[in-house]
Amino acid sequence: MRKPLFKSLYWKISFVFLMVLLLLGIAFNFLTLFSAEMYFQEGNQRLHREFAKYIAALLQPYAQDSLDQREITRVFHKVREMNPSVEIYLVDTTGRILFASTSLEDLKVDHVAIEPIQKFLQVEGKKFTMGDDPRGVHKEKVFSAVPFLLGSRQMGYVYVILGGEEYDSALQFIQQNYILQLGVRTLLISLVAAALIGLVSIAYLTKQLRNLTKAVSAFGSGNLSQRIPVQTHDEIGNVAQAFNQMADTIQRHMDELAAMDSMRRELIANVSHDLRTPLSSMQGYIETVMMKNGVLSAHERQQYLQTILDSTLKLNKLVQELFELSKLEAKQTLPAIEPFSLTELVQDVTQKFQPQAEKQGVVLKTSFEKDFPLVSADIGMIDRVLQNLIENALNYTRKNGQVMLELVQVNSKIQIKVSDTGCGIPLSELPHIFDRFYRARGPRTRSDGAGLGLAIVKKILELHGEAIHVESRENAGTTFTFHLPLHRREVR
Ligand SMILES: Nc1ncnc2c1ncn2[C@@H]1O[C@H](COP(=O)(O)OP(=O)(O)O)[C@@H](O)[C@H]1O
Ligand SMILES: [Mg+2]
Repeated sequence: MRKPLFKSLYWKISFVFLMVLLLLGIAFNFLTLFSAEMYFQEGNQRLHREFAKYIAALLQPYAQDSLDQREITRVFHKVREMNPSVEIYLVDTTGRILFASTSLEDLKVDHVAIEPIQKFLQVEGKKFTMGDDPRGVHKEKVFSAVPFLLGSRQMGYVYVILGGEEYDSALQFIQQNYILQLGVRTLLISLVAAALIGLVSIAYLTKQLRNLTKAVSAFGSGNLSQRIPVQTHDEIGNVAQAFNQMADTIQRHMDELAAMDSMRRELIANVSHDLRTPLSSMQGYIETVMMKNGVLSAHERQQYLQTILDSTLKLNKLVQELFELSKLEAKQTLPAIEPFSLTELVQDVTQKFQPQAEKQGVVLKTSFEKDFPLVSADIGMIDRVLQNLIENALNYTRKNGQVMLELVQVNSKIQIKVSDTGCGIPLSELPHIFDRFYRARGPRTRSDGAGLGLAIVKKILELHGEAIHVESRENAGTTFTFHLPLHRREVR
């Protein structure tokens, strides 16, 4: 998607920036012009503040009883011949123009404001004062003024506009002024330099933004390994860093999802395999029994049926365990914590396994002190844990071996140890035995489990906030250890 050229951030910022520069330049120029003009005018006024006094002295002889119009006009003309840049007026005390050095028809107004004149006289012309210029309606100019007497009575003022040269425009003013020209040129050069530097910096900044956008959209279109190199520690750098963190998180989650997905596939593969084996054996035996119905001896028939029964038991156990584990993993069954006597539970469980142990020629023993305190846990779940651990211990322990269940109080917890003198677990397999469907390979594997027993144990203890540890030496034995909290009242 290409944006129209002038809609890009670069152009927007540049445009605003250039406009600001331009306005600044114009404002600065006008300010300079204005103040320069003022400066000249002020100088002009200071220099010629006595000018009106001098003219009044020339005129006074022609204003004794009445005004001698001819003589006054003559004096006006004479003065203007010597100094053509001035305009001379004789005004009455209200500011009405009586005489002017130019013809009265050229004037735009017939009177001038009196306040500036009074102010001028008050400060004796030492402060910059502007007054009406009768030749231009809106333009004020510097002037010189002095009271004018008719006989001994004040009749008005001599009012002299100190025009200096007339400038039609600011441009003309600049053109005729070297210093100003220099100033304006310097200003123009610095403005151009500022514009160039500004445009380059904006280009640099927006380039970083463009890089950001590029990286984000690359990430968006699937390149999860896309990261942005953090070059600066400003806001853009912060955005880059935040993006990188977000990308890391997303990637981690994606990896986790992928791992979970592959685990799920594996699970389905495992389950279907473990279901198929007993099923096909059942099918085979049932077919045989049906086909050879008349030929089979009672003993054979009994044997076949026993095999079929074993397979259904195995299937049943597998489905049961799967169901249990998936419920635990989905957190559908949460432990119902209650106080109970662990010693009683241990006795029950060992009693249940005693026949199997005897059959295998293995000694199954328990060890705990009398008056053992209560623990807080889900009794059904802990029953499951103990069963699974003892079942394993018996399955992997040969004749004349021993399986031991030990309870010891350690601080505010009970330590439970299930140890055997069986075949042990190779070091390389230890990290995996709690994984779902993990079963150590080789001739040691005697049980007909599916590799879910320890996964269930670990999950249950996790739900209780506890961990399980295993220690094992090959051909020497294995010990599983975990803890359960004492019932609150029992903590002393
Ligand atoms: N007490 C033990 N002694 C030796 N190996 C054991 C013991 N307990 C567990 N294992 C190993 O851990 C594996 C996983 O155990 P488990 O999850 O209960 O699955 P299963 O008992 O169905 O094989 C077993 O296959 C076995 O190799
Ligand atoms: Mg097992």
